[in-house]
Amino acid sequence: MKGLFISFEGIDGCGKSTQIDILSKHFTKKKKPFVKTEEPGGTKGSNEIRKILLKENNFKWSVETETLLFMAARNDHVEKVIKPAIKENKIVICDRFMDSTLVYQGMRSSKAKTLSLSLFKLIAINPDITFLIDMDPEIALNRALSRQTDEDRFENYGINFQYKLRKNFLDIANKHTERIKIINGDQNPETIASQIIENINELIQ
Ligand SMILES: Nc1ncnc2c1ncn2[C@@H]1O[C@H](COP(=O)(O)OP(=O)(O)OP(=O)(O)O)[C@@H](O)[C@H]1O
Ligand SMILES: [Mg+2]
Repeated sequence: MKGLFISFEGIDGCGKSTQIDILSKHFTKKKKPFVKTEEPGGTKGSNEIRKILLKENNFKWSVETETLLFMAARNDHVEKVIKPAIKENKIVICDRFMDSTLVYQGMRSSKAKTLSLSLFKLIAINPDITFLIDMDPEIALNRALSRQTDEDRFENYGINFQYKLRKNFLDIANKHTERIKIINGDQNPETIASQIIENINELIQ
């Protein structure tokens, strides 16, 4: 079997981690070697960059500078984790990747979008398949409210911001239909997982 690079995208709380857990169990059961990783992060150095980016600070970086830091973290992650795993013919499951940069930073600045895309060409790896777990942000919000710990996230950014994120994710998916599969996230986890596995099986058989 050849390596396979899978990424998961979607708004906060759409069910990425839940699906990644189910998929990991599936690959374990099928004895398929895989690596589970995430962005921003995935390596020691990238996690340090993540901390600087997420920490309340007074650096007042522009969205372009923020984007360069995300891209530096991605480069480290690709060099040290993703490319080596693919070379060893493993499956890589990545929680968020380049599409998140295009959405979260790209929707705030076209210069940031151009910058990230030109650097991404040099990073030179794209997922073989991306699952966009799409759902109405109101539903994701209701789920989050049932988990008290996650309330802040939505209070910080607001529901309108989540709607904008959703639209931007869908726009990207509609431009890259060969790579990005839009999965309806408002279904039970097992139904979603079976749709994801069906798509993957088409690639690895
Ligand atoms: N299909 C589903 N139906 C109902 N609830 C779900 C479903 N998938 C996930 N959940 C619940 O919704 C919440 C958010 O799911 P999860 O943490 O998987 O989302 P996420 O996309 O990883 O979020 P984040 O962006 O914060 O990492 C969790 O409480 C999870 O148990
Ligand atoms: Mg998650």
